[in-house]
Amino acid sequence: MDFLDLIKQQRKEAKKESWSGTFIDYLNEVKKNPDIVKLSHKRLADTVEKYGVNPMSESDPRCKKLFDSDKIKIYDYFKDEFYGHERVIAKIMRYVRSAAMKGEESRQVLLLMGPVGSGKSALADSLKKALEKSNDYIYNLEGCPVREEPLHLLPRSLRDEFSKALGVHIEGDLCPVCRHRLMEEFGGEYEKFPVVRTSFSLRGRRGIAVVPPMDANSQDVSALIGSEDISKLDKYSESDPRVLNLDGAFNVGNRGIVEFVEIFKNEIEFLHTILTATQEKNVPAPGKNGMLYFDGVILSHCNEAEWNRFKSEHTNEAVLDRIVKIEVPYVLELTQEMKIYEKMLRRSDFRAHLAPHTIKVAAMFSVMSRLKSSQKCDLLTKMKIYDGQEVIEKGRVRKIDIKDLREEAKQEGMDGISTRFITKAIDNALTDSDKSFITPMRVIDSLIRQVKEQIVKDEDRKHYLEILQKTIREEYLKMLESEIAKAFVTAYEEQAQSLFNNYLDNAEAYTTKQKMKDRVTNEEREPDEKFLRAIEEQIGITGSAKDGFRSDVTAYMFTKMRRGQTVDYKSYEPLKEAIEGYLIASVKDMARIVTKSKSRDNEQQKKYSEMIQTMVSDYGYTPESAEEVLTFASNNLWRDS
Ligand SMILES: Nc1ncnc2c1ncn2[C@@H]1O[C@H](COP(=O)(O)OP(=O)(O)O)[C@@H](O)[C@H]1O
Ligand SMILES: [Mg+2]
Repeated sequence: MDFLDLIKQQRKEAKKESWSGTFIDYLNEVKKNPDIVKLSHKRLADTVEKYGVNPMSESDPRCKKLFDSDKIKIYDYFKDEFYGHERVIAKIMRYVRSAAMKGEESRQVLLLMGPVGSGKSALADSLKKALEKSNDYIYNLEGCPVREEPLHLLPRSLRDEFSKALGVHIEGDLCPVCRHRLMEEFGGEYEKFPVVRTSFSLRGRRGIAVVPPMDANSQDVSALIGSEDISKLDKYSESDPRVLNLDGAFNVGNRGIVEFVEIFKNEIEFLHTILTATQEKNVPAPGKNGMLYFDGVILSHCNEAEWNRFKSEHTNEAVLDRIVKIEVPYVLELTQEMKIYEKMLRRSDFRAHLAPHTIKVAAMFSVMSRLKSSQKCDLLTKMKIYDGQEVIEKGRVRKIDIKDLREEAKQEGMDGISTRFITKAIDNALTDSDKSFITPMRVIDSLIRQVKEQIVKDEDRKHYLEILQKTIREEYLKMLESEIAKAFVTAYEEQAQSLFNNYLDNAEAYTTKQKMKDRVTNEEREPDEKFLRAIEEQIGITGSAKDGFRSDVTAYMFTKMRRGQTVDYKSYEPLKEAIEGYLIASVKDMARIVTKSKSRDNEQQKKYSEMIQTMVSDYGYTPESAEEVLTFASNNLWRDS
């Protein structure tokens, strides 16, 4: 690699992209492409939408199950970064888009409100990055501290005409610095004013400004609007713009984004600039320099307690009136929550092996901690329904309407365990481990420890410990038991499929009151009642319930087949569960003996090794993690037998 070549190449590219000219040249550029004249909200909306925006596909199972077939807009820009935040993102983008149409919302502050770790800062960062990443440039007056739109040079009397001729909207007044230069240097001949093209950069303080929360003592409005350079005051008069240091957040973020981090940690007086910035699109210039035109997206975030406190102060009404609040709750969808942790782990330096279900049990905990209990079902069931899973009860898919559950728990997702709490526990489990892997039990233990140490409220601590020590532990043992048994069944899929075919034949014959024809001998015989029952009892169907189940299954499958769809043992959730239960039960004893044995005979040792092998090749364990999990299973699953 030739470093010098690379450097030169980059420099050439950068040069090609840079542009400079006079105001007249700029007018010609606008004539060619009026789209370069844009206010900030529109720029942001266009930038994000450029990546693609489509209604959620109907073929996405989440669409029907979780979004009520609502064609929610999916913004590709956020797709690989955020999970389960589709509703929040759609709301944010709806605000940005509507502000782009210069409606009332363009004069409002966007406020993201939600609990710690719900992704507020990450969403704000992502929006700021959109501007940085886009190859979008803005044209601005050369040397202007607020990088203003060159069209500000046009006198009011000419604006209508230019606006028509160019097909663009013109608003805003020349800043005092450029006005001074125009007079001094160009004698008012604004057509000669130089124009340049610049990009957005957070670090370069171009078009993106961040205001961290400041305590009452260090709060100084100059952080927002800039200041006067006292050292220049003996050279110039106080009203001379050359004394201005326009480096406040509203100056830097002009034409882009101004972000207020944890906005209500500031004193209200500090925030008054926001009022004029939104209402009049003006911010005060320091000293006696009047007002400065401002155009930017004002973005802020806070948590619920701060919001409530702020809202209850009636002196804050004026600011409240300027706020568009969007709630950013925690994710309540297990599968999406898991993706968050996978993303975080991918980005960390941890390279240890995670045994299957490790992330899942952690995510189960955070999601369940956030759910409100319901009369309609237990917490685990609710979690599954929120995840779009089918919950089987007495042979039927349990019909609990997700809408009802959501309805009865309106504020759900605004409290509970945060993403950071979970990642910390995973990190700790990884660091504590003397091995190169972690298992679900280690994460559960780590979570238990952390809850005991960190959750102060008795009631919460008790509730969380019960979720971990009881609900999740039991659910994990169930998953593990079925996984081990599956690893024990040779050619699991084939066996399941053959059981399915057999069941369907028998159930159909039973339902239509016909004889069975043996596939091999062609002999006629009665449906195999014993076999049918053995399958059905796996999901608790006994007695008179069997008739209904058999005809349901038959009807369901034949409808599918008539539509030309293929059916297999996974087609109907209750039957799938029954078949798996049957298969698992059939090898349970063997699995138990082989796993538990302290000293295995040759035959058992062989079976044990095969099982480890399957767990490695089919389920994603390493030999070591498989052994640890099996030891755990034999100590906990089959204790009483
Ligand atoms: N829905 C989500 N999708 C992807 N990542 C998320 C999600 N929610 C939270 N995170 C991640 O969790 C971490 C904490 O989020 P952060 O934005 O700092 O929270 P907040 O500012 O709300 O306290 C970040 O790494 C963020 O990327
Ligand atoms: Mg934050």
